[in-house]
This record gives sequence, structure tokens and C-alpha cells, in this order.
Amino acid sequence: MLDKISETRNNFDDDLSKVSDLNSLEDVRLKYLSRKGILTQFFEDFKSVPNDQKKLVGQSLNNLKTHIQEKFDSLKSEIESRTNLQKQSDIDLTLPGRTYQVGSKHLITQTMDEVKYIFKGLGFSLFEGPELESDYNNFTALNFADDHPARDMQDTFFVTPNFVLRTHTSPVQIRVMQNMKPPIRAIMPGKVYRNEVISAKSYCLFHQVEGLYVDTDVTFAELKATLVAFLKQFFGKDVVYRFRASFFPFTEPSAEMDVWWQPKGKEGRWLEVLGCGMVDPNVFINVGIDPEKYTGYAFGMGIERTAMRKYGIDDIRILFDSDIRFLKQF
Ligand code: DAH
Repeated sequence: MLDKISETRNNFDDDLSKVSDLNSLEDVRLKYLSRKGILTQFFEDFKSVPNDQKKLVGQSLNNLKTHIQEKFDSLKSEIESRTNLQKQSDIDLTLPGRTYQVGSKHLITQTMDEVKYIFKGLGFSLFEGPELESDYNNFTALNFADDHPARDMQDTFFVTPNFVLRTHTSPVQIRVMQNMKPPIRAIMPGKVYRNEVISAKSYCLFHQVEGLYVDTDVTFAELKATLVAFLKQFFGKDVVYRFRASFFPFTEPSAEMDVWWQPKGKEGRWLEVLGCGMVDPNVFINVGIDPEKYTGYAFGMGIERTAMRKYGIDDIRILFDSDIRFLKQF
């Protein structure tokens, strides 16, 4: 048996020298160290060794066991650390990092936010109304005559004979005045819809911010001062503007406000940004406010136009295209 033990030792050393990876090392473990392996068999045979030889054979068997276990363990940890190093070297530290797309607010939302912020600073509170509006609030209460051309199917999206997609934010004025007593100082932002041919200048959907101030002794001079203060804060104090007499059924007198637009290298022109005026007494009567006691001003601003003027955009459709290359510039 002693010969067999020393032969096994040589065989083991030989086998181990051929091991190159964890798989071939596992084969060695199975052959020598497993429950059915050579060592187990030796200890089984040991039981039948004559007593006078037990000491010697036992010692050499134990030596073999220690030898095999130690050599095995040390080669195992060597191979493991080698493969770990290899794994680490698979990582290319010079690769650029992964970038994540960060969302941001749409230009229209940003412009809306800015307009709201400025009017908040001027003492206006905020109200919203529904986009699906009654014909009464959208037109009749605002003093539109029954045969006014704006009621025409060509301009207005009628949902039923009595309900429309609101064509402006002015009906929210009606809702506010029906529910509040003066003094009222509010802005009313939102989406509006018009059944128009889509072009660089107009779209079937756009945004407005309505403004309303009702109190005793409100004057046109206050209206002008408020709008000019807004314009200077929004476009900068050098903004060039003008008021132009106009007509709206719900204001008397009425005006429109234009700002000068000077694109680089092109001819400049006036751009209409809002309509405004003194609330028509008929509108006050329609909502139950005494026109003898109160006066008020109102205005309605187009947000797309205002944004286009501020950022030098010349086609309204690009604001609705959801083209990330355009949007991420803002
Ligand atoms: N609603 C008008 C429009 O859509 C804009 C407007 C003009 C609103 C005068 C007003 C106003 O409140 O007083 O063209």
C-alpha cells in the first residue's frame, strides 16, 4: 500500500500540472477528493491493513491527504484570482459614460409659466375654464350678435348645436364674473380651437391667456399701464409696441397691441400679440354686475405668437410637431 500511496502522489502532481482552468481542476477534485475518489478508497482499504503496519501506512496516508488538499487549494485560489483579473480587464475605462435624456417643459408651457408669473407679480389671481364650452358662454354672453361671422361653422368647431370647442378664453371671464363679486383681478390661461386652414401663421389649436380687472373706476389708462408693464418684463424694456384701435363685441372701446419684430437681415414688421378693451356694459348686464357702478378692462393674449416673437420662430406649426431637435433648444 505504501507503494500505491507514493504512486498516487506522483500521479496527482502530474494531473495537477496539466490543470489550466476551473473545469479541469474540478475533474482532479472528483478523481482524488470526492466521496468516490481515490483518497476515500484508500481510507476504506486502510481498515484492512495489518495492525503492525497501521502506524506507518496511516502516517503516509495522512501526508498524502494533506499534500493533495493543500496543492489543490492553492491552485484553485490562483486560478480564481487570475480569472477575476481577466474579468476586470474586460472593463474599458476609456468608454464614454451612458447619458440619460432629461425631459424639459415644452416651449409653450415655459412661455405660459412666464406670463403667469409676471401677472401674478402684478396682483392677478388665476382661474381656468373648460375647453368644451356652451355656445352661450363662448358667444352670447360676450355680446356676439346671433349673426356674428365668428359663429360660422367655418371658424368654430361645433360639437353639438349648443356646445363648441371654445374659440377663445374669453368665456372664462363670464364664468368668473358669474361666480365672484368685484373687485376681480384674474388671468385665465388655456387652450382654444379654431377651424382654420393650417399654415405658418395659424393652427387649429393654440393657447391664450385672458385677463380681467373689474372694480369701481377702472380706466383705459390702467389697462395700458398694466400691459406695457407686462410687455417690458417679458420682452425687455426696449420693446417697441403700439396700441391700435380695433373692435370686439365684448369690449368698448377696443384695441389691439402690436410689438415690433425685427428679424436679422430681414424687413421688420408689426406683430399682433393681444386684443383688449374696456368691458362692454352689455357683458356686465349678462353676468349680473351693475355697469353703473363698475367698470373693467379685459385682454386676451396669444401665447404662440408671443413665444414666436420672443424666440424668433416664423412658423407656428413647428410648435406642435413634437420634434425633439427643435424642442431641446429651449
Ligand atoms: N378673445 C379675443 C380673441 O380671441 C381676444 C380678446 C380681445 C380678449 C379683447 C379680450 C379682449 O378679453 O378684451 O381674439
